Amino acid sequence: MTWVQLNDALVPAGEARVSVFDRGFMYGDGVFDTVRVYDGHPFQLGRHLERLQGSASAIGLELPRSLERIARDVRAVLDGNGLARSDAVVRVSVSRGVGGRGLSTADSHDPTYVVAPYPVPDRVAETQASGIRLRVVETRRVRGDALPAGAKHANYLNSILAYRQAQVGGADDALLLNSDGDLAECASSNLFLVSRGRVRTPDVGCGILPGCARALILELCGGHGLEFDEARLDPSALDSADEVFVTNSVWEVVPVRAVDDREYHAPGPTTRTLAELYRRGVEAEIRESRGRQPPWDRPGPASE
Ligand SMILES: Cc1ncc(COP(=O)(O)O)c(C=O)c1O
Repeated sequence: MTWVQLNDALVPAGEARVSVFDRGFMYGDGVFDTVRVYDGHPFQLGRHLERLQGSASAIGLELPRSLERIARDVRAVLDGNGLARSDAVVRVSVSRGVGGRGLSTADSHDPTYVVAPYPVPDRVAETQASGIRLRVVETRRVRGDALPAGAKHANYLNSILAYRQAQVGGADDALLLNSDGDLAECASSNLFLVSRGRVRTPDVGCGILPGCARALILELCGGHGLEFDEARLDPSALDSADEVFVTNSVWEVVPVRAVDDREYHAPGPTTRTLAELYRRGVEAEIRESRGRQPPWDRPGPASE
C-alpha cells in the first residue's frame, strides 16, 4: 500500500482526500516541486525546497512547514513506503487550502499540504539512450509578467496544452517559444543546445522555469571547463546546433534526435559527457550524505 502525507497525517493513498472547495482544485492556486530519489536519497533536495519556498513567495502563499520539516516529511514518506533504499520520485504540493467561491484569498489561512511518492517512469534509461523528438508548438510559454515564470505553480495548463499539441504532431515533447519568439523550454524540461562545443541555454529572462537539473548542468560546465552561456536564443540557433538535449530532475539529461525536421546525432559527445557528469554528481551527493560509498560502488551485496 502507498502512504501519503496529507497535512499532519500519513494516510493510505486511497484515503487521501482534499475538499472540493480547495483553491488548488478551484483555481490552481498552489505550488509544488518534484524530487528524484536515488537509492533512498532525495537528490538536490535543498535546491528543490528553496525553489518551493520561492514559488510560494511568488504567489503570496506561506508554506505551512519550515523547509527542514518538509525535508523530514519527505524522509518519513520514503521510510513509511519502504523506499529507504529505493529509486522513486517525491512530489511536495501545497495549495492555498479551502476558500469560498471568488478570487479573494483573504479567508484562506490553512494550506493543504501533500507529500506523495511515485515510481520512477518506466522508460527513463531507454529514453536517455534513444533520445526524443521535439516539435515547436504554437502555444507560447506564458510570459513572466502574466504568471511568475520562475515559480512551479499549480497552473500547468500552458505546458499541458503544449504537450498535447506535440503528441498530436507525433513528437515526444513540445518545444515552446516565448512571446518574443525566442526559444524558451519544453513542456516540463529545460532546453540546451551545443554549438561548436559551446553549451547554450535560454536565460531565465526568457520566461523559463529555472530547473534544478539545469542548474546542476551549468555548474558542471563551469567545473569541467566546458564553455557555456545563458542567452536569448533565436529559433535559428537550432539550425546551427550540433547537439540538442533537455534536462529535468526525473529524466536527467535526455538527448534530442530531432526538432521538427532538423535531425541531430543523439546523444552527441557533449551531451554524453554531461549525462555522465550528472550521474557522477548524483553518486557524489549520495556518498557525501551517507559518508560512505553508495552500494553500487561497493564490492558484494549491500549489507542492509
Ligand atoms: C516547465 C518546466 N521547465 C523545466 C523543468 C525542469 O525542472 P527540474 O530540472 O527542476 O526538474 C520542469 C520540471 O517539471 C518544468 O515543469
